[in-house]
Amino acid sequence: MAEATANELTHLGGVSSQELLERYATSLMGVFGAPQRVLVRGAGCHVWDADGKQYLDLLGGIAVNALGHAHPFVNSVISSQLSTLGHVSNFFTSPTQIALAEKLLEIVKAPAGSKVFFANSGTEANEAAFKLARRHSHGQRPKLVALQGAFHGRTMGALALTSKEAYRAPFEPLPGGVEHIPFDDIEALRAAVDSKTAAVFLEPIQGEAGVRPLSVEYLREARKITSEAGALLILDEVQTGIGRTGAWLASAAAEIVPDAITLAKGLGGGFPIGALITFGEATSSLLSAGQHGTTFGGNPVATAAALATLHAIEHQRILANVLAVGEYLRSALAKLDFVTEVRGQGLLIGFDLDADVAPAAVQAALNAGFILNAPGPKTIRLAPPLILTIEQAQSFIDALPAIISTAKDAK
Ligand SMILES: Cc1ncc(COP(=O)(O)O)c(C=O)c1O
Repeated sequence: MAEATANELTHLGGVSSQELLERYATSLMGVFGAPQRVLVRGAGCHVWDADGKQYLDLLGGIAVNALGHAHPFVNSVISSQLSTLGHVSNFFTSPTQIALAEKLLEIVKAPAGSKVFFANSGTEANEAAFKLARRHSHGQRPKLVALQGAFHGRTMGALALTSKEAYRAPFEPLPGGVEHIPFDDIEALRAAVDSKTAAVFLEPIQGEAGVRPLSVEYLREARKITSEAGALLILDEVQTGIGRTGAWLASAAAEIVPDAITLAKGLGGGFPIGALITFGEATSSLLSAGQHGTTFGGNPVATAAALATLHAIEHQRILANVLAVGEYLRSALAKLDFVTEVRGQGLLIGFDLDADVAPAAVQAALNAGFILNAPGPKTIRLAPPLILTIEQAQSFIDALPAIISTAKDAK
């Protein structure tokens, strides 16, 4: 057998989208439905499909590609780490793992005694947080509180915290004790949290529910209520963290110190990595040797990718760009007559249409060369690379009226 070159193995050059999609249908599990396109290449805020068509990526791999695609600095750091040391077990550590933990503790302004646990995804970071909450309860606090509309992941613990019935029902029984209370309702939170509550899990902005921000007042009250009851406050910043909202954490505006936060998505700039950060000595000591683990978590390449991503965000004025382009997009969207509401912060944006055509709009946008997402029948979500320019944002605003009228015609 002739040996394949690296390009032959990975690029599948010359194979059409149609052929690849047929092969997908026969070989991959259908949990995601049919893929919308086969993407073969990316650069900056653009990607190309197997037929050579170009798209402006306004979803960024669902809030993952913080620095866009094929970022030269991130690529060079990953390549150099990979060609030096690719993986070690957690019987060992590596310089990038330690440096990333230190950097994360610095950017989230964690108090002394705070610690980091590395996982590989958002759901795994939340599993670790769930176990932290169980340890805190010492058998005396069986209750956990999460919000209606919450999305925390698909593994069993994270799924128990997730509220959507369609995701939960096929997999019951889920780990018990989770109560879902109304969104942004301080009185409901006060009523739900007591001496039997181990933890409250909150997303500062619910991304999957259509980009719904919790108020600063709610976050502050949540801190007070949980502290008074002796319960942990755990913030899921998997989607909102790492600059997505124009700050390292979306919860920064509330100026509270939680007991833990979870991160993933943008952290690795496209490379899989998740993290649980515990705040302060008391919380950090809840999980001790042997109580949790993962083979891949904190591996040298993933932590190098994250270090490079954080470095580029910090040194290339990315947070300022997020604030400026986010503001520009939100105010331009608000002026469109078919847009009824615009929500979000920085470059995590949700907007509602005046008709239930969001899924059709996603299709029409693809045909017009834009990648969007529809978390609800009339809601569009944007979570583009944090390097999106004003000109790229404007090209989308210019194209949107035609996209929406095509979607309405298709209905
Ligand atoms: C807030 C939040 N938490 C957790 C997750 C799960 O992350 P992952 O898909 O990496 O497991 C997601 C994913 O969308 C999310 O948005």
